[in-house]
Amino acid sequence: MIVPAEREQGVSLDVVRIRADFPVLQQSIHGNRLVYLDSAATSQTPEPVVRAIAGFYRDDCANVHRGVHELSRRATDSFEGAREKVRHFINAESTREIIFTRGTTDAINLVAQTFGRRAVGSGDEVILSALEHHSNIVPWQMLCDEIGARLRVIPMFDDGTLDIDAYRDLIGPRTKMVALVHISNALGTTNPIKELVSLAHDHGIPVLVDGAQAVPHVPVDVRALGCDFYAFSAHKMYGPTGIGALYGREEHLNAMPPYQGGGDMIRQVTFEKTVFNAIPHKFEAGTPNIAGTIGMGAAIDYIAAIGRDEVSAHEARLVAHASERLSSIGGVRLIGTAREKVGVVSFVVEGAHPHDVGTILDHRGVAIRAGHHCAQPVMDRLGIPATARASFGIYNDDDDVDALVRAVLEVREVFA
Ligand code: ALA
Repeated sequence: MIVPAEREQGVSLDVVRIRADFPVLQQSIHGNRLVYLDSAATSQTPEPVVRAIAGFYRDDCANVHRGVHELSRRATDSFEGAREKVRHFINAESTREIIFTRGTTDAINLVAQTFGRRAVGSGDEVILSALEHHSNIVPWQMLCDEIGARLRVIPMFDDGTLDIDAYRDLIGPRTKMVALVHISNALGTTNPIKELVSLAHDHGIPVLVDGAQAVPHVPVDVRALGCDFYAFSAHKMYGPTGIGALYGREEHLNAMPPYQGGGDMIRQVTFEKTVFNAIPHKFEAGTPNIAGTIGMGAAIDYIAAIGRDEVSAHEARLVAHASERLSSIGGVRLIGTAREKVGVVSFVVEGAHPHDVGTILDHRGVAIRAGHHCAQPVMDRLGIPATARASFGIYNDDDDVDALVRAVLEVREVFA
């Protein structure tokens, strides 16, 4: 059990104890302690999550919702138990509103191809923001291209915040859908998502929120946000890859056609006609990622044991500290300076391509991501090809920030 510890800088997490739960972090990289600052791409997996996944295969492996035997009953209980954990994690009203998907991308594609296909018609408009990840652009672009609708984009200011007045002006009679990121993966900007949702709802427009970068860092309450859909992935919140969840309001999910056809999403099949299963199963065709789902539930337990408010406070302090240290280095420029920022510090080093920055840091054992972060329009808007991005998780502390800063100083020496 992890207990938040008082530290000099204020309330923080007992990172030494947390790190001990992550076997992958115990290794050296190129002779240095591994400093993992790429959790926005994929977070690491703690032992209890690994154990939960292995435990399924070792002790309970069977298909769900199908067998009458003991193993199938256990697998089904664990699988549906994970659904309840996800419901509680985001405070949805009912487990019927929680659909397991392959991840955020899969969840957004599901909504675009089912709900979106019915809601958006020729000549209509879908509003996105300049901060979106490709996974919340391309599915809507594909839909719009196919049906003759068009994307409208909320512009952003140089600091990486959205122009809310422009958003208000974009909403019009042709707007049929709004799809927005909660927290930007490239810059860390936290959007005022509740306000953005409510502006759309004033006009009766449904809103999907991409919460991939939010759920690991801040408490999320879908009922308080008021959104229609909320999508996220397990592998950014200390769970396994290939599994995630879509929250959808019950009335929408009931009205939506299925996404894929197959086993488990049906009630009755004849060659003439198929009667679909009730939600959420209507959207879960085929044998699901049972082990992944159980792992996702274990990740939720792990975060809950630490405390989501504690995680938030710890990471906010780390991001502020890293931002301050990096921006005090000559030739280093922070990219994305919004006041409300979570999890991520993006930066460029004068005279050095972000890939070179990433490579030099790697030689010091510091793992960051360098590139466009699957958000090319963000880079285009800021007139840069890429950034170096340090992203933080529950296992990071001030020593990691020190290691990052030392390595960036080396980059400066090499490229000066
Ligand atoms: N969306 C992931 C990232 O930001 C892959 O790195």
